[in-house]
Amino acid sequence: MGRTAEVADEALLDIRELSIEFPVYGGAVRALDGVSLEVRRGEIVGVVGESGCGKSVTSLLALGLLPRDGFRVRAGAIGLLGTDVLTASERELGELRGSRAAMIFQEPLTALNPTRRVGAQMIEVIRRHQPLGKAAARDLAVRALGEMRIADAAEVMRCYPFELSGGMRQRVLIALAFSGDPAILIADEPTTALDVTVQRQVLTLLRERARRSHTAVMLITHDMGVVSQYTDRVYVMYAGRVVEAGSTRDVLSAPAHPYTRALLNGLPEGAPPKAPLRAIPGSVPDLRAPPAGCAFAPRCEHAAARCGERPPMFTRTGAAGHTAACWLEHMEGKSV
Ligand SMILES: Nc1ncnc2c1ncn2[C@@H]1O[C@H](COP(=O)(O)OP(=O)(O)O)[C@@H](O)[C@H]1O
Ligand SMILES: [Mg+2]
Repeated sequence: MGRTAEVADEALLDIRELSIEFPVYGGAVRALDGVSLEVRRGEIVGVVGESGCGKSVTSLLALGLLPRDGFRVRAGAIGLLGTDVLTASERELGELRGSRAAMIFQEPLTALNPTRRVGAQMIEVIRRHQPLGKAAARDLAVRALGEMRIADAAEVMRCYPFELSGGMRQRVLIALAFSGDPAILIADEPTTALDVTVQRQVLTLLRERARRSHTAVMLITHDMGVVSQYTDRVYVMYAGRVVEAGSTRDVLSAPAHPYTRALLNGLPEGAPPKAPLRAIPGSVPDLRAPPAGCAFAPRCEHAAARCGERPPMFTRTGAAGHTAACWLEHMEGKSV
């Protein structure tokens, strides 16, 4: 059970028309509404949007990490490396995670036990997923750290997590994630807690490492700068929906959705790197009572009457594979 033949050849992660909700007192939070998203072999895919748009829920669901009794699936399916995640057993999911599908999260400190040395923890995690003796696991840990350009691996392994900088801790966790030779890595805001310079170093190392082993990465971020520098394709999420998707080049050079344009306006293009980001006026709607039409309409300076009535359909915009869900695109006669 749990296998599916429907997963497309090269789609390692294949989320199809997924709608889920969290039951809450007096109603439900419609966290995802018709989300379709694919990550193919070897590509780095960005998922971008403001806080509360459904990025973490998407990544946790993809790995089967949300407790089953905490949410309801209204529609859709998730295929991860050929496994139907929504029906797979905990054992199947456990085998996938940490080996062929790996993950890293925002706060590297919470992923490490503060009371144990880094090396001992790495060896333990490696041995949980691979049939290796202690010495072989240690060798693998040293090699994995070397792959993340940590030259003094033995020194780092002797440290307790708090003795390492945030950037070094995240490099250790990325090294560990790659030690199982995963086909896909899901990284949820892996550098958000780090300062800008360290963030760049860590993401550059992550990208290099992924390219070397042809590992696919789903890179979740709220930062269009990260999308533009580190991803091949991008999905823009707003209020539990994908509102625009395409190659990073197409989406950033010709953004079709006003939300994507608003996110891009926050980019300090040409400005000093520390310039404050311009926030988008207004806020993400309450997903317990989502708007009937386009969820962005209340914040959109171009909104027309139609935008408030029904959610817009996806339509091709410009280049092949570049799509957006915006009524204005339909009205401009660009739909196919
Ligand atoms: N366990 C939960 N119960 C109820 N609502 C939740 C739960 N987890 C997430 N949500 C809601 O789902 C929406 C999406 O959250 P999330 O995926 O964490 O957003 P993001 O990662 O994009 O900031 C938010 O409205 C959030 O409050
Ligand atoms: Mg999140």
